[in-house]
Amino acid sequence: MATRTAKAAWPKDFLWGVSTAAFQVEGAGRVDGRGQSIWDFRCTQPGKVADAGSGEVACDHYHRYEEDVALIRSLGVDAYRFSIAWPRVLPQGRGRVNEAGLDFYERLVDRLLENGVQPWACLYHWDLPQALENLGGWTARDSAGWYADYAALVARRLGDRVRHWATFNEFSVFTLFGYAMDWCAPGLMDRTANLRAIHHLNLAHGCGVDVLRDLVPDAFIGAIHNRQVVRPCTPSEADRAAAAMLDAHWNLAFPEPQLRATYPELLAEAIDPWVRSGDMAQISRRIDWIGLNHYGPIFAKSDPSTIWGFAWGDAPPDSPVRPEIGWPIFPDAFRDELLELTRRYKLPVYVTENGMGSRDAPDDKGVVHDPRRIAYLETYTSAMRDAIAAGADVRGYFVWSLLDSFEWGSGYTNPFGIIHVDFETLKRTPKDSARWYTKFVAAAKKGASEAGATKRTPARSASTKKGAR
Ligand code: FCB
Repeated sequence: MATRTAKAAWPKDFLWGVSTAAFQVEGAGRVDGRGQSIWDFRCTQPGKVADAGSGEVACDHYHRYEEDVALIRSLGVDAYRFSIAWPRVLPQGRGRVNEAGLDFYERLVDRLLENGVQPWACLYHWDLPQALENLGGWTARDSAGWYADYAALVARRLGDRVRHWATFNEFSVFTLFGYAMDWCAPGLMDRTANLRAIHHLNLAHGCGVDVLRDLVPDAFIGAIHNRQVVRPCTPSEADRAAAAMLDAHWNLAFPEPQLRATYPELLAEAIDPWVRSGDMAQISRRIDWIGLNHYGPIFAKSDPSTIWGFAWGDAPPDSPVRPEIGWPIFPDAFRDELLELTRRYKLPVYVTENGMGSRDAPDDKGVVHDPRRIAYLETYTSAMRDAIAAGADVRGYFVWSLLDSFEWGSGYTNPFGIIHVDFETLKRTPKDSARWYTKFVAAAKKGASEAGATKRTPARSASTKKGAR
């Protein structure tokens, strides 16, 4: 993609970062008073996680955060997106506070700031305290209040230093996979539970926005959505209906109520029994940015045996896919998604996850070559630049992920890190992609500053500039 590199400079204040999530990297599962989460429980259930992996040790980021912050700094990026583990700060999900847990996040944030790295904190990346799951978890309406209290606790402690907040990561993924497909915790397959969880998560989001707005001076608040175009596997009516239903769950069930105060047509009637007066106003509180996690398009096929009548299908036979996990590689779909987000919601977009899972081990000299990850990042960042040139209001990009880590149901078999982690010794080794990203970010910043003040393209409308940092 060398020709693409010769394109216009990146916008001047474009933010470059790396992402992780608490359960995937922290480890220290039973250390310093941390409670158990629904993912700790899932890891104990046979057959739910590849190779019986668990988050018990993971990357041991909890103890090695200083080394990890030094690595982040060495990449030359602006920001680090991480998540707070709810059961680490409230072991039972509510009530007794675990000061040691809060202290950890204070130390992490202070270290980042000392190193000139902006902390971007996400309040929820899938690890609900198991004690709350035992009370019904997200299927209980009370969950919105539990979440608001938890958000207030964290905001009071970190809000003087952290300005950038996300309420949740990928509502649609953990709701669909957790309540309809048994691919994520809590592993239910129950249509009603799924619908209730959708509504209560939306409510929790809106309550969280209020809390952050009240408690954090000058807060920059967003929510992170996983959006990927859903294509029917065949043009048949059944596959097209399956794709439309999957699209409603995956791409619309959360952004539409949060940003347009309405549920998508295909789900509205089914969710209605749980919607009370005032809920839609509570859900659609103003936010400042939208986070996009994107990997590649989804191919859907009809499957009447499933709860929602759809199943994941294969990409067409000639599609480029990632060898280990079969996820399709379509940078143009990423460009289109960025444009669509700008058009539809008119908020600044931050790409909060994008990256490539591939297994690349150190060679006999200890060097990790990962050319496929580099090629993926090159084509996707190039597609992002195309989107910006065409008017998409994209303000930042975080690579998933800083470190190889626990990848949910895939355990440790699907590493996304630009830094290799040896899970026996926990040794970190930057891969070729880390060196590529360092150079890429340095060049992007140099190009942007040489280009002088950012010249916004005419396609970017005045209304998309609100909320600018
Ligand atoms: C996303 C998750 C993240 C990671 C990547 C590969 O859906 O948010 O935690 O697992 O996929």
